[in-house]
Amino acid sequence: MEDLVKHIRLRDLDVSRIGLGAMGMSHGYTGAGTDDEQSVRTIHRALELGVTLIDTAEVYGPYTNEELVGRALKDRRDQVVLATKFGMISHTGRPEGPDSSPASIRTAVEGSLKRLDTDRIDLYYQHRVDPGTPIEETVGALAELVAEGKIRHIGLSEAGPGTIRRAHAVHPVTAVQSEYSLFTRDPEARVLPVLRELNIGFVPFSPLGRGFLTGTIRSTEQFDSSDFRADNPRFSGENFQHNLHLADQVAAVAAEIGATPGQVALAWLLAQGNDIAPIPGTRRVARVEENTAADAVTLTDEHLARLSALPPAAGDTHNEAGMRMMER
Ligand SMILES: NC(=O)c1ccc[n+]([C@@H]2O[C@H](COP(=O)([O-])OP(=O)(O)OC[C@H]3O[C@@H](n4cnc5c(N)ncnc54)[C@H](OP(=O)(O)O)[C@@H]3O)[C@@H](O)[C@H]2O)c1
Repeated sequence: MEDLVKHIRLRDLDVSRIGLGAMGMSHGYTGAGTDDEQSVRTIHRALELGVTLIDTAEVYGPYTNEELVGRALKDRRDQVVLATKFGMISHTGRPEGPDSSPASIRTAVEGSLKRLDTDRIDLYYQHRVDPGTPIEETVGALAELVAEGKIRHIGLSEAGPGTIRRAHAVHPVTAVQSEYSLFTRDPEARVLPVLRELNIGFVPFSPLGRGFLTGTIRSTEQFDSSDFRADNPRFSGENFQHNLHLADQVAAVAAEIGATPGQVALAWLLAQGNDIAPIPGTRRVARVEENTAADAVTLTDEHLARLSALPPAAGDTHNEAGMRMMER
């Protein structure tokens, strides 16, 4: 019998402490959408290994990633904590930018439920804070969806401390999902302390630094033009060389303990608290096995200190337009 991955609580929501991000199966990275059958097998393998937290979003594809996840979870729906996100697509005709108006959310949730082939979403995140809608209105609409049983828990993504407090005052927030990894340490200063004060869980996205921390990205030639990383500041020029050096230092720790670099990156995150559940993304069976096995990797105090002392990655994590949408 394989050991199943351990569980933690995001506030009052029980999840495996390593989840699975489904985005790259349909969106954002080279090869997305080219082998849905492999992606479905990857989701099924994750469930066999005890992964319960599956992460998607309306905008991934758009729409096709939720359809894929819905298909993969047919007859397995009750085994998972299904998380999706709204707010990057406007359903009220806004020409650009996020839309978390109550009317847009009402349309979004019906679409997500249909594509996911389910009657409830376990964790429904606002994907980015909408400067055009007070967060109180957004969370008020979400609270109504909780009361109707369409969603079970509320989450926010890349929200800053002020927004988190205001949202939580309207309805308890179960989890915040933001980028956090050895490459992106921003949540430590302002967001994590507020989450701990309010007993809100934390879900680090891109915990492998969008693949960089696994040591398998050695050249930007690996990316096709549809790849998010092709024009990303962290993956270009001098920043790329600097970040390769950081990834090599993670690989050095991995070699010392007989783990893989990606497992070390995940084990470091797990060591940051029992309120943290990273969602590494992969569309391959062997990699979901590798990533989930990070649950059993323990880092010594000396290794943790060495890793924590590494500087964050050079370069912004998004292009300018993307950075403007994030509250830090
Ligand atoms: N809230 C947000 O705004 C937001 C933003 C980004 C992501 N997310 C969520 O977070 C999830 C994870 O983030 P992410 O996918 O951006 O980044 P990530 O998990 O840091 O890295 C994913 C990349 O690493 C590769 N990879 C995964 N495991 C590997 C391994 N063991 N060895 C070598 N390469 C490996 C994947 O390629 P293969 O697929 O080819 O294995 C993929 O290119 C997403 O799926 C999504 O659900 C949320």
